[in-house]
Amino acid sequence: MGDQGAGSGGNALKRQLAESPSHQKIPLFLKTFLFLVCVSAFIMCLALSKSSLSGWQRFAFHQRYNWLFNQTFRVNKVPAYRIHPKHKAFVTATHKTTEPPTLKPRGIEYHQAYPKNYDFVMDNPDVCRNRTPFLVLMVPVAPKNIAARDAIRQTWGKDNMVQGKVVLTLFMLGLSDEADAEKVKLENQQHHDLIQSDFMDTYLNLTIKTMVIMDWLATRCPSAAFAMKVDSDMFLNIDNLVIMLQTPGIPQQDYLTGMLAKNTNVVQSKNSKWYVPEELYPEPRYPTYTLGMGYIFSNDLPEKFVEASKSIKPFNIEDAYIGMCMKKLGLSPTSPPNPSQFKDYNRQYNRCEFSKIITYILSTSEQLKRYWADYKKPGPHC
Ligand SMILES: *[C@@H]1O[C@H](CO)[C@@H](O)[C@H](O)[C@H]1NC(C)=O
Ligand SMILES: *[C@@H]1O[C@H](CO)[C@@H](O)[C@H](O)[C@H]1NC(C)=O
Repeated sequence: MGDQGAGSGGNALKRQLAESPSHQKIPLFLKTFLFLVCVSAFIMCLALSKSSLSGWQRFAFHQRYNWLFNQTFRVNKVPAYRIHPKHKAFVTATHKTTEPPTLKPRGIEYHQAYPKNYDFVMDNPDVCRNRTPFLVLMVPVAPKNIAARDAIRQTWGKDNMVQGKVVLTLFMLGLSDEADAEKVKLENQQHHDLIQSDFMDTYLNLTIKTMVIMDWLATRCPSAAFAMKVDSDMFLNIDNLVIMLQTPGIPQQDYLTGMLAKNTNVVQSKNSKWYVPEELYPEPRYPTYTLGMGYIFSNDLPEKFVEASKSIKPFNIEDAYIGMCMKKLGLSPTSPPNPSQFKDYNRQYNRCEFSKIITYILSTSEQLKRYWADYKKPGPHC
């Protein structure tokens, strides 16, 4: 009986250990204990090392924990897409799912001009995968302005090879109520040169448009050497621009050039197109910036601008806003090798003059086509 008892008792214990989940109790407890010891040791190490860290490292630590905390916090929240319900139907209908939609926190993150608040509806991600452009021309244009796009496609945006270098021309569009979404889609299927993002395409939103251009360059075309933001009403002597960018001594990094605006006063008159309320920009003057009709930059800058825009309040003057981003980065625009090549308003066409300049502001797309045809005619220019 004793043997049996002991035997059965022993068997009972074995069976208990084998069958009951409680057999894991001891190792699990041990594991938990060891884990806690490790965590405490890690925290102690951290506390000790923190005292010897530089201010920057401490900041980085703080950032990381802050980020971790935010991620944990977000997981527990009901995910919400940022797209305004009004645009949802449009976006769903035309969204080319090149990448799965990412979850974003509710509301505007950072500032309204921070481009990652917006999603691309069309982004032609392959255009820079198939070749490495020397220069990318980014043209902000309203969705309905097909005439301007067609004129550019027939003139300075026509050739992908300029002076032996690969040059791409792309158009940046926002959303518009008037524009026929289907038409825009077809136009892109034909030309593969439209980039569209889901912000409302209005004059006051031009800063958003510029920052979305920067986001596209940083994420879809990082291999390009240079880029230019150029308005759709411009005459662009693309040959001279490519030649200029190959001038010895042109910086390959942190380079922004164009027609410089120095000591420009902020427009305080409410009737002006360029009026900026004091709440948006409290200082009386802008830092030196490049005028928005056409500025050229080394393609390392877009990513830096996107980062800088997190902490710069947006205002509706996109070129001055880029000036603010430069200032924030501790940089300033550079004067072009020959500043007289960057002209503003054109009064009269002159074949000799147009063969020497880089930019001129025109009035109509018809002018652009006419002047271009003449400039490209064989024979001496001057
Ligand atoms: C975490 O969230 C807080 C509050 O929303 C914000 O101030 C902070 O910048 C966030 N930190 C990071 C690293 O995202
Ligand atoms: C700018 O775009 C945002 C996002 O689409 C929109 O909510 C806002 O109304 C626009 N602002 C103006 C002034 O058009």
